[in-house]
Amino acid sequence: MKRSGYCNEIREHLLGEQVTLCGWVNSRRDHGGVIFIDLRDRTGLVQVVFNPERQPQVHRQAHGLRNEYVLRVCGAVVRRPAETANPKLATGQIEILAESLEVLNTAQQLPFQLDEEGVGEAIRLQYRFLDLRRGEMQRNLQFRHRVMQTVRRTLDEAGFLEVETPMLTRSTPEGARDYLVPSRVNPGQFYALPQSPQLFKQLLMIAGYDRYFQIARCFRDEDLRADRQPEFTQIDLEMSFVQCEDVMALAEGVIGAVFREALGAELSLPIPRLTYAEAMDRYGLDAPDLRNPLHLVDLTESMRQTGFKVFAQAANQAGSRGQHGMVKVLRVPGGAQLTRKQIDEYTEFVGIYGAKGLAWIKLNGPWQEDGWQSPIVKFFSDAEKEAIRTTTGAEVGDLLFFGADRASIVNESLGRLRVKLGKDLQLLQGAPFSFVWVTEFPLLDWDNESRRHVAVHHPFTAPMQEDREQLDQSGMEEQFLDKVRSQAYDLVLNGTEIGGGSIRIHDPKLQERMLALLGIGAEEAEEKFDFLLKALEYGAPPHGGLAFGLDRLVAILLGVESIRDVIAFPKTQKAGCPLTQAPSFVDPLQLRELHLRTTQVQK
Ligand code: AMO
Ligand code: AMP
Repeated sequence: MKRSGYCNEIREHLLGEQVTLCGWVNSRRDHGGVIFIDLRDRTGLVQVVFNPERQPQVHRQAHGLRNEYVLRVCGAVVRRPAETANPKLATGQIEILAESLEVLNTAQQLPFQLDEEGVGEAIRLQYRFLDLRRGEMQRNLQFRHRVMQTVRRTLDEAGFLEVETPMLTRSTPEGARDYLVPSRVNPGQFYALPQSPQLFKQLLMIAGYDRYFQIARCFRDEDLRADRQPEFTQIDLEMSFVQCEDVMALAEGVIGAVFREALGAELSLPIPRLTYAEAMDRYGLDAPDLRNPLHLVDLTESMRQTGFKVFAQAANQAGSRGQHGMVKVLRVPGGAQLTRKQIDEYTEFVGIYGAKGLAWIKLNGPWQEDGWQSPIVKFFSDAEKEAIRTTTGAEVGDLLFFGADRASIVNESLGRLRVKLGKDLQLLQGAPFSFVWVTEFPLLDWDNESRRHVAVHHPFTAPMQEDREQLDQSGMEEQFLDKVRSQAYDLVLNGTEIGGGSIRIHDPKLQERMLALLGIGAEEAEEKFDFLLKALEYGAPPHGGLAFGLDRLVAILLGVESIRDVIAFPKTQKAGCPLTQAPSFVDPLQLRELHLRTTQVQK
């Protein structure tokens, strides 16, 4: 018998009809007579009843059913007796009176129950084929599918062509390590798996394709976190003859369509914007969550003369972007309630980000009445206390946390503390989804370790027109270079970067200069990027684009903690797959064919 439909489609309009359903035994209840099973498929559940009087043979068969057996069931749709109706279930008003039953397959005892809470992730991933049967995972992957189809349709309608780019390629610098693939027919040589399709999409613009997109797999060998996987998916796009505004408007349209079609909600547009400088100043991080009402206040000016040496020193320390000293404060309204133990824990927390301490003041009353409780307040003059009070707007009952150090340390430690306090004290407010564009990123960062500049976005990002002159004139002097801004933008959702892009360099001379600034010499540039530099010489149109992190977008819209929960077969923190046991040792013969010898052997 052919399946007539899905479990969750059985509703009252089918009362009295014969249906044939296929699925898994989700649960079985034997009421010492009548046997009930919940039959499950990817749409949901429906109750099937086996009645000993009406269908004795089928009822006997039902005795042998166990969880996760695979069935085909035929029967009539009937209304449940009022007392057994289940308002929590979409099909809770009806049930199927089984008339025939076919066991298509049996199943072993499961290593965990599908409705069990708190099953360890290792075992979930090892038995992912079972884990994926759980309602939550079904919902997540179906939602992801919906998002992908919406994106495809929206971009198709906007004139974008979907073009696939190679997986076996050369390194595309996006700031992570490459995954390499050895070439059998070219001894000693390797392909790199793409960190993004960046260079190919630029070549497609040069080739005149005008508007490209791809739902592209990217590979990055970096330290993993909840929102990072070694292979992940981008919604990648590129457009010719555009400026930042055009790409951002297009991106807003895509997100708007996703909201409408996948969430059934209307996104309020346009998405607000912050420059990178504003974001760092107010939130200390370049991906702020604006649902969090806390913000940082710069006190550097008023701390230049202070008697508290740590602050005075930081306030007077000159340097380039990130390296100069500063004093900032984070005001926690009502925070005077926090205990010493909590403050000690926060002090330890900021230590992770390099802060040497976390000075604090509890405002138990006005300072004039000795109401400020703090290990440092004795160092401040009345004028300084008044400056602290007025610049922060602090009131009695509040707590102030201070950071004094190099700007990069102060911003990161207080920025992270702001996020942590927002979570710990449950301060998040407003709409559940908060988007913000962060624009005008710096073009270059100084990397102390390698003693050279690195691209903040990637080496193909164009500088802002206004700063172009500075770039042309400045030579290698860092104090100029760190002021050059780029035409790059990030889209941030609830404090996570879910997308980023830029207008690209289309002038080959500027691209060469950029590579030189990054310490990539002419020889290396020629070896690695010759194809791009050459292509730029053959009529490259102005172009730009962006890529969304699909996994992150879907995870946040679904409100799940980790992107692993929206990827069918993700990797663990150690980049392994407990299901397939990848990565694995390989046959020595295979290594020999690939002209490889390894220093690690199978134990
Ligand atoms: P970028 O490196 O910012 O830009 O990547 C774009 C988006 O991809 C997501 N993302 C990740 N998601 C999961 N796991 C990872 N390891 C991971 N790394 C990045 C982020 C990020 O915003 N070629 C440029 C885009 C462009 O300029 O058009 C690029 O790859 O959400
Ligand atoms: P100390 O003088 O080292 O005992 O520090 C007094 C207070 O200042 C303590 O609460 C420290 O946590 C704090 N503190 C020390 N160094 C810094 C710093 N660089 N930034 C912020 N607070 C600090």
